Amino acid sequence: MKHPVRLERQNGVALIAIENPPVNALSTAVRRGILGALGAALSDDAIKAIVIAANGKTFPAGADISEFGQPFAEPDLPELCDLIEGADKPVIAALHGTVLGGGLELAMAAHYRIAHEDTKLGLPEIKLGLLPGAGGTQRAPRLVGVDVALDMMLTGAPITAAHAQRAGLVDGLAGDDLRDVVKALAAETTDIRRTRDLRRHLTDGAAYMARITQRRAALGKDVAPHKIVDCVEAALLLPFDAGRQVERTAFAECLATPRSAGLRHSFFAERRAAKFAELAHGHVRPIEGIGILGGGALGVRMAINCLDAGLPVTLVEQGEAGVGLVLDRIGAHYQQAVSAGRMSEGQGAAALTHLNLTTDFGSLRSADIIIEALPEQAGLRQAAFDGLGKTAKPRAVLATTSAYADLSELQRVSTRASEVVALHSFPALPGLDAMEIGVPAGVDPAAVTTAHAFAKMLGKLPIRSAAHPGLVGAYLMEAARRAADRLLLDGATPDRIDAAMRSFGMALGPYQAMDLMGLRQGWMHRKSHPHEPDPRYLALADRMCEAGWFGREAGRGYYVYAEGETHSVPNSDMLQLLAEERRSKGITTRSFTDRQMRDQIILTWVNEGARLVGNGIATRPSDVDALLVHGFGYPRGRGGPMQDADQTTTFQILRRVEILHEADPTGWDIAPLLRELAAERQNFGDLNG
Ligand code: 3HC
Repeated sequence: MKHPVRLERQNGVALIAIENPPVNALSTAVRRGILGALGAALSDDAIKAIVIAANGKTFPAGADISEFGQPFAEPDLPELCDLIEGADKPVIAALHGTVLGGGLELAMAAHYRIAHEDTKLGLPEIKLGLLPGAGGTQRAPRLVGVDVALDMMLTGAPITAAHAQRAGLVDGLAGDDLRDVVKALAAETTDIRRTRDLRRHLTDGAAYMARITQRRAALGKDVAPHKIVDCVEAALLLPFDAGRQVERTAFAECLATPRSAGLRHSFFAERRAAKFAELAHGHVRPIEGIGILGGGALGVRMAINCLDAGLPVTLVEQGEAGVGLVLDRIGAHYQQAVSAGRMSEGQGAAALTHLNLTTDFGSLRSADIIIEALPEQAGLRQAAFDGLGKTAKPRAVLATTSAYADLSELQRVSTRASEVVALHSFPALPGLDAMEIGVPAGVDPAAVTTAHAFAKMLGKLPIRSAAHPGLVGAYLMEAARRAADRLLLDGATPDRIDAAMRSFGMALGPYQAMDLMGLRQGWMHRKSHPHEPDPRYLALADRMCEAGWFGREAGRGYYVYAEGETHSVPNSDMLQLLAEERRSKGITTRSFTDRQMRDQIILTWVNEGARLVGNGIATRPSDVDALLVHGFGYPRGRGGPMQDADQTTTFQILRRVEILHEADPTGWDIAPLLRELAAERQNFGDLNG
């Protein structure tokens, strides 16, 4: 492997250049390289000053997160920062790109910092359940004061180079001549200015402590924010080295929390999920216009997503009245966005100029991606794909929004087997930004990469699924409903189960999610694929669909939704049906604790997630996690159900599922992969690759 740190000497200046793509993370090899180069520069009498810079797209974007939790390797980053700060020759950091976490801490330990004007600087450790652990909690308040330091550490949001200069975090800005500017400064400077010795922001102790008290009072119950405030308090109250010791202990404590493990897992799970095998050999086709077929809730939501991303949309709806209705809905959305101050009037109007609403199916001819969002009606989708096969331009991607569509059938009727995918999105709630891409056999990799690029253009997290009824997301939600239905049968209610899942941290309970996604597709699928006879099958969802209670869009599902109101109440007619079902089965009801209810659902996700991975439907266990986090609001700080399961052993998980299976044999079909992993003493993480 190429050495990740190089030392160049020129005119009395040593340049330590870091090169560890993609983000120059401060891995063990990089730290060792910097240590060696620093030692060489310091012991060379010809060298008067030292520049630390990075090649590639950024100055280090942090410590190497993948090394956390591994055995400690010297030198550690805090030590390295101390050595840099303690150097007896001026050290100047040349910053560009995204200077984050340990990267910024390294820079703060240098004696001067010059940044390219486009640089972003931040301390995002909190997003990993951590705190700056290489002296950042001690040096940042000394450089920028308690307020800016706490803002940066508690939000994790980066600031611009101009802001950093105003705040005193960087000493100067440069353009593309950054290296020359820094080298020139290095050639002139003799002053050594150690951040640890700065006092200007520590002189008014009372004001500093007032800010600490104020911030502390506003914190929630997560560990890291409290520890950050403690460390910043220590920066005032303790000598630098003692403050660093407080930070070191606090960092280790945060690193050991399940929340940090969950957030770090999520960080990598999200990036892995977006890595489709097709990206290696499929090019992205131009995406200049989107066609949408159908102006129901899904079609309208998709159109708004596209317009917000600046993509021109042609939406085809039946009849002038239908078109009018769609225009009203989309218009109302932008009007609301303008009145709520989320966009200017000009922006709202501009978005609408990219919308072409029509009844003319032929208008879809120019679209690069055509998305079918039709209601669930026998034969409708097939007829649409037949029409699209005749109308769409060559190489247009043909997508269905349905998770249950028979993709091979759509490939056949469209005669465009290489272009058909599913693009399935999730309940429209803040933070739920997954877009599942269902890929049947025979699809051109370029169609997949184009769908992937489209998801990213919409700001979504693309997650791959092989063709499968429900893909991964709706399948897991349907499995959760089935598991929760067993609890309903025995005495629980949908709102109690939903509340138990929300108290665990889910954005939504399974019944709320079903209502938001709509019950119709799952019902149609169940009707065409009857299940094995099961004396404990609860026909509640089927009977609700027969009554037309399809969920949120119909105004009634497990809950009743009054027009224009966000508040919902349990559907009392549904509770009546539930009582009838129990009576007909002769059930004596009992009560459940929150824990029993959520264990039943989470273990279902683990077991069914294992089945999907074992069958090759989901690519890896961490995709199941990313999907539940980004599709249904599983708490990101837990990582996901598979990561949660890995907190024990697969052997223990199997045992728990076996116990549930023994109590309810038709309710639990144990996934072969779970048995295999348990037998081989492996966990799900071993399969993430
Ligand atoms: N460690 C290890 N790998 C990292 C990394 C890090 N700190 N930051 C990014 N990567 C990897 C990603 O996993 C990804 O790898 P892949 O290509 O194999 O999937 C690759 O770098 C590119 O990352 P992105 O896909 O996220 O690229 P973007 O260009 O979209 O974003 C970024 C770049 C803004 C730097 C973003 O990756 C990011 O925010 N990274 C995390 C930064 C961070 O949290 N730093 C603090 C680390 S903790 C720390 O420093 C502790 C210290 O206080 C002791």
